[in-house]
Amino acid sequence: MPLVIAVDGPAASGKGTIARALARHFGLPHMDTGLLYRAVALNLFRFGGDPANELEAVRACDLSAVSFEDDELRSEIVGSYASRISAYPAVRAHLLDRQRNFAAQAGGAVLDGRDIGTVIAPGASAKLFVTATPEVRARRRLAELTARGMNVHFDEILADIRARDERDAGREAAPLVQAEDAMLLDTSELDVAQAIAAAIALVERHLS
Ligand code: C5P
Repeated sequence: MPLVIAVDGPAASGKGTIARALARHFGLPHMDTGLLYRAVALNLFRFGGDPANELEAVRACDLSAVSFEDDELRSEIVGSYASRISAYPAVRAHLLDRQRNFAAQAGGAVLDGRDIGTVIAPGASAKLFVTATPEVRARRRLAELTARGMNVHFDEILADIRARDERDAGREAAPLVQAEDAMLLDTSELDVAQAIAAAIALVERHLS
């Protein structure tokens, strides 16, 4: 059976860093599924669409013109649009096959997102649910954005993180929730190296 690792968790919990490190450690390809939602959001943003309009969001699902290397995918505005349009079942349906096919490839895979362990790869060999307190996540996001030269305030970022948590966990379509068989990893008190080591140890123990 190919090794499939599902990594879910809220924004800025460290799940992306952990998923990339797991992929390196186990020699597996990695997909950041948040980028797919961000790509739809960027499309919508560029053609002046309204994230509150489901039809416009669905029209933005053709990703043929989006480069996944585009720096704007990581911007706050695109993240905020992504968190809105990801609530639409029709948008999620458009992105489903791409993620399921990636998870089903013969050599195995690591995917990170919000619904990997629950919807995309419910049969994954190992599932991690990565969390940290909203304050810790806001501090990390602030450091990341400040390092990129952006002038942002802690309170704004914390409010945005809380709003995003609420939207991700409160939506009806594939809400952010820990899968019953997922291992919880709270990174609030851990630095990057410790979080990665803890994730690898959890997965290895689970597989042995
Ligand atoms: O993880 P990231 O912040 O890049 O994701 C952007 C947005 O995409 C999230 O706020 C979330 O609402 C949505 N998303 C999702 N399901 C996933 C991955 C991301 O709904 N599997």
